Amino acid sequence: MTVDDAEFRRKVRADVPHSARVWNAWLGGKDNYAVDRELADAVTAAYPQTAAVAQASRAFQARAVRHLAGLGVRQFLDVGTGLPVENSTHEVAQAVVPDARIVYVDNDPIVLIHAAALLAGAPEGRTAYVDADLAHVDAVVDEAAKTLDLTEPVAVLLLSTLGHLTPPDGIRVVQQYMARMPSGSFLVLCDTVKTPQTLAAQEAYDSGENPPYLVREPEEITGCAEGLELLEPGFVSIPFWRPDEEDPAPVDQWGLVARTP
Ligand SMILES: C[S@@+](CC[C@H](N)C(=O)[O-])C[C@H]1O[C@@H](n2cnc3c(N)ncnc32)[C@H](O)[C@@H]1O
Repeated sequence: MTVDDAEFRRKVRADVPHSARVWNAWLGGKDNYAVDRELADAVTAAYPQTAAVAQASRAFQARAVRHLAGLGVRQFLDVGTGLPVENSTHEVAQAVVPDARIVYVDNDPIVLIHAAALLAGAPEGRTAYVDADLAHVDAVVDEAAKTLDLTEPVAVLLLSTLGHLTPPDGIRVVQQYMARMPSGSFLVLCDTVKTPQTLAAQEAYDSGENPPYLVREPEEITGCAEGLELLEPGFVSIPFWRPDEEDPAPVDQWGLVARTP
């Protein structure tokens, strides 16, 4: 994969916050610019739980991937990947099943630059990166199918990413992904539920230049899994999804893992 320098410079805006970089700032990463940190701080000022939500999302991702790998799932499609941080999907999955195959999907040029870190998986497995708009479901899945065997179950991850799609696009897009997956596949989904506090965060995040992030009613999240079978414990505030610790603290990020019939 090559990155055209001029095209890269055009796409990377150091003066406009990028979702992947702002998220990286909340996670305590270093792959972000001043403009991203300023927005991250503004949202945190409006909604102090923000960093806890980001950490909880990553922890949910790790627990869900580990659980599914333990059930024998060997293929993962991580849509809206973000910048590489600890416990990337291939690290967690391949620690359980070394021959697991993982395809990452994002459309941020900085994530593309860092994709090499996502592709250094276990030699027994395979990893790939698709630089595409996640809303172009058929194009993404066709490209992913060069790495994934779509006759075998796939876990589709959409974590803290749905908010970038305007309702009702979220439900439609997720359902399109699941319709392309074989029987016995899984959806792993989490996003921010609408409360007065998260609406304040949404408002603070919308600087007018970066794409907005829209918080959702619970049914706009569960609607994505319509017709699928929810794994226990169902749709919950994500720290309560098969927690590793006792008495986790709730966050306004809810999630689910569901299986296709
Ligand atoms: C808030 S981050 C979440 C990252 C990761 N899923 C996690 O939970 O750590 C959202 C990610 O979705 C990506 N994204 C947003 N809109 C997208 C689109 N239309 N197509 C592909 N990726 C998109 C952003 O670039 C960013 O990396």
